[in-house]
Amino acid sequence: MCGIVGYIGDNKAKDVVIEGLEKLEYRGYDSAGIAVLKDGNLFVEREVGKLSELKNLIRNKDLMSNIAIGHTRWATHGEPSVANAHPHTSTGYDIAVVHNGIIENFMELREMLSKKGHVFRSATDTETIVHLIADYYIDNLEIAVIKALEELEGAYAIAVVSKHEPDRIIVARKGSPLIIGVGEHENIIASDVTATLKYTDKVVYLNDGEVAVVKADSVKLMNSNGVELPLDIKIVDWDISAAEKLGYKHFMLKEIFEQPEVIINTLRGKIYSEQVEIKEISAEILHGIKRVSVIACGTSFHAGLVGKYIIEEELRIPVSLDVASEFRYRNPIIEEDTLYLVVSQSGETADTLAALREVKAHGAKVIGIVNVVGSTIAREANGVIYTNAGPEIGVASTKAFIAQLVSFYLLMLQIGRIQEKISKGKEREYIKILEKIPNQIENILKNHLYIQSVSKSLTFVKSIMYVGRNINYPIALEGALKLKEISYIHAEGYQAGELKHGPIALIDEFTPSVAVCVKGSTYAKTLSNIQEIKARKGKVIIIATEGDDKIKNEGMDVLYIPEISELFSPLLTVIYMQLIAYYVAEIKGLDVDKPRNLAKSVTVE
Ligand code: M6R
Repeated sequence: MCGIVGYIGDNKAKDVVIEGLEKLEYRGYDSAGIAVLKDGNLFVEREVGKLSELKNLIRNKDLMSNIAIGHTRWATHGEPSVANAHPHTSTGYDIAVVHNGIIENFMELREMLSKKGHVFRSATDTETIVHLIADYYIDNLEIAVIKALEELEGAYAIAVVSKHEPDRIIVARKGSPLIIGVGEHENIIASDVTATLKYTDKVVYLNDGEVAVVKADSVKLMNSNGVELPLDIKIVDWDISAAEKLGYKHFMLKEIFEQPEVIINTLRGKIYSEQVEIKEISAEILHGIKRVSVIACGTSFHAGLVGKYIIEEELRIPVSLDVASEFRYRNPIIEEDTLYLVVSQSGETADTLAALREVKAHGAKVIGIVNVVGSTIAREANGVIYTNAGPEIGVASTKAFIAQLVSFYLLMLQIGRIQEKISKGKEREYIKILEKIPNQIENILKNHLYIQSVSKSLTFVKSIMYVGRNINYPIALEGALKLKEISYIHAEGYQAGELKHGPIALIDEFTPSVAVCVKGSTYAKTLSNIQEIKARKGKVIIIATEGDDKIKNEGMDVLYIPEISELFSPLLTVIYMQLIAYYVAEIKGLDVDKPRNLAKSVTVE
């Protein structure tokens, strides 16, 4: 759960690494550090806190060099401190390592290496890696790294430099992402492509078990035994500007506003002659399925919950749902005629990946709904629906969620066609509805100043209830998750009908609610639930359907979505949830894009 960058080429190594770390700060920001090889020496600088602290530290230091590695940390072993910040160095300060992942057998290794005289200076698992490499080092860094890796248990992406071999960075991966950006007389290694895009669009994705020797003019890729492998260079067509804020105050706001375009991109390449065709998923996989099992975490889990309503409502195929971190440990029944769907923005979430592997180990097929192309989940799944939302930098997921929802509608239509459960006419009608959504979201977004003013009333409360029913219940959950993660206000998402079974005890004049009450099967019931809140003096902000004057007359703040079939309403109601959370956090002056204690990509279980 950290960001790694390394550069070898001309004299701008430090700048490229710092710039790359800035792009990767979403992966963790407890501390940061850089190691530079210069004039036959290894220089290491580390600082606690965000990258800006490291930048201050090195501002007046001469670190100009042609080779450097850097790291931005999200602590797993050992508190955020300078001693625990990466890079870690060998006892003789000649080798430096940055690492993303967890070394599970670090205690045993640490004991063994300490007995042999290696001096440990941190509480991290990572430090064992550098001492282990030093222990094996005679005169060849590549060999020492390969030997050390054989002894490591756990997950890692590492970059290693040594002052004895200043013409190379050795990298390796097992369970944590790592890519090599291939340039002209320069190469960049990083945890993801946002750090390399400025310099090159050519990328090599390392697979688990692979090691590479990266020099300025060459990349040698090997398997874990040191056997050379061919380089599979991919071209990444993400626009560099997509990874920058483009004038918005925060990435999250930019990403919320990108959603109309995201939907167009998600639909692109998946509809031919008014028919859904997701080429990456074979008809064979979808043909005989009798059940669907969705596995995901956080916001992706909420998308899966909406997916359950969509698939069950339209196809009458039962859908079960699991939080990925629970799936493996409940000894799940894995059946061949069940379609397993793992949903993940990053494609690297360790819990989701572990669940995917568990399913595959039992011989069943898994489809990924994934945003990051080439990510581990995307590569290990039997088929993948790429959500095409582009890089999502804000820790709070927004545009990836909308793209996941669209993917569920498309998947439902594809299964429906293959299993002959959806008529051609209905498929056409639903595609038209999806194609209209971007415009409808644009109109909601035009209202952002009103949403900002409505959000003000929520800024200084201690707790907020989010309620919805049916397909908008997951949107209540998502609204509550968004609010708590970026505004630090306690929020709970509930089925509106469930309030009276307990949580209504929390309602008073100081505990407001946000209720989704759009036209549809549960409209009247939700309206009654809102009355129950009002009767306890609770204020309610209502997300309703345009033209619903009855609600307007209730004298509460009403946020309208255009008239739309209930089945598709989450694509619109969620926009209000995202904007409310954003404005509450923004008004409070919080670090919206990097909320405390969180990281964008959760690569530890
Ligand atoms: O990358 P993933 O979709 O697998 O990530 C899953 C969750 O960690 C993620 O959705 C998290 O809940 C977000 N911070 C929510 O905004």
